[in-house]
Amino acid sequence: MRHSITTILCGVPIFLAAWLCSSVLVSHAQEEGVNAKKLFVYHCATCHGEDGKGTKRGHELKSPNLADANWQAKKKDDEILNSITNGKNKMPRWNEKLKPEEIQALANYVRKLAPKKKS
Ligand code: HEC
Repeated sequence: MRHSITTILCGVPIFLAAWLCSSVLVSHAQEEGVNAKKLFVYHCATCHGEDGKGTKRGHELKSPNLADANWQAKKKDDEILNSITNGKNKMPRWNEKLKPEEIQALANYVRKLAPKKKS
């Protein structure tokens, strides 16, 4: 008898672990559905404009033209990611409002704002 109770008790954590794993997998699948454009328009376009060139408000706060090829060329991926995460001067930080995967998606999106490079 004693033996079978132990077996049942040991089974519970395994069941829980399996359940946790499957919910992590489900949320992972949702991450892939992060809509960077929507996030950008919602959170960032007030200052940066939908095209990244910057609104009047953005220019007042000295935001750069994110769609400028020269600006893009000077910026490293890490800097972009870090500035969005932790903020920079008048640029607000986003690590409390957005999930890391959303910030990553936005950093990728910022790269897409640049005009195609002329070769
Ligand atoms: C309140 C206005 C405002 C909002 C909202 C805003 N930004 Fe900014 N952003 C700025 C300003 C101002 C700067 C210039 C910071 C500096 O270099 O002094 C900036 C700079 C940046 C930079 C360049 C950082 C660097 O390393 O030079 C990126 C990339 C950026 N913003 C992305 C975003 C994204 C993505 C969002 C939305 C999640 C966002 N911004 C929302 C004002 C804003």
